[in-house]
Amino acid sequence: MFLNKHKVETKNKINMNNIPKHIAIIMDGNGRWAKKRGLPRIYGHKAGIKTVKKVVKVCSDLSVKYLTLYAFSTENWKRPTDEVNGLMNLLIEYLSNEVDELNKKNVKVIFIGDLSKIPDKCNYEIFKAEEKTRNNTGLILNIAFNYSGRNDIINAVKKICDKVVSGQLKTSDINEDIINKNLYTYGQPDPDLILRSGGELRLSNFLIWQSAYSELWFSDVLWPDFNEDDLIEAIVEYQKRNRRFGGL
Ligand code: FPP
Repeated sequence: MFLNKHKVETKNKINMNNIPKHIAIIMDGNGRWAKKRGLPRIYGHKAGIKTVKKVVKVCSDLSVKYLTLYAFSTENWKRPTDEVNGLMNLLIEYLSNEVDELNKKNVKVIFIGDLSKIPDKCNYEIFKAEEKTRNNTGLILNIAFNYSGRNDIINAVKKICDKVVSGQLKTSDINEDIINKNLYTYGQPDPDLILRSGGELRLSNFLIWQSAYSELWFSDVLWPDFNEDDLIEAIVEYQKRNRRFGGL
């Protein structure tokens, strides 16, 4: 168990009875991390994969049920072709190298986002990873890829409209539950904690419906430097929050 390897005071700070069920992360700062070292941006993303592995391990060890990572947004296509291709290749590398380890850890991998627009070779690895881990019952690892929160809502609206047009649903019956059921994250609880590394203070089109009552936590640490203790600090901070969901 990872906690044994950590400082005793860190372990004592965490309340194991109040672990967030769903943590979502905006992994920002890879480019700046690389720039500071005079390296091409893709090296920052490569280093960011190491952090992904650490964070998955901690969440799995702490019995967090859902972890959602923002790996590629629909807006990221605007980046230079080299970087976009580099990110596609890193995804392939991560999945092909890690799927056995993830499977051993009982992690279930799910992709959320528009996968119709990404290269076949990525989709092939995604399909293999999802298939291999389909029956796992441990951590659910959502990888948001070619993801946009607004598109998630637009797609849900389209699906719901089709049902209204075909007479399966009445407009007056549309409610939060029906919208939830038509989002990429259907069947999953909303994130309890959304954290963003890299110092920026925004959600950048990530889980914008699902984040209605999420606790937000921002870190100045650049994603490749983010480590187990930073994640624990975020969880400890979350545990101090008084969540009222609009009540008193
Ligand atoms: C934002 O940093 C990060 C991304 C757009 C990509 C994140 C991708 C990874 C960590 C690797 C792939 C992940 C998986 C799960 C396979 P930025 O480039 O915007 O950094 P900057 O703000 O410093 O420029």
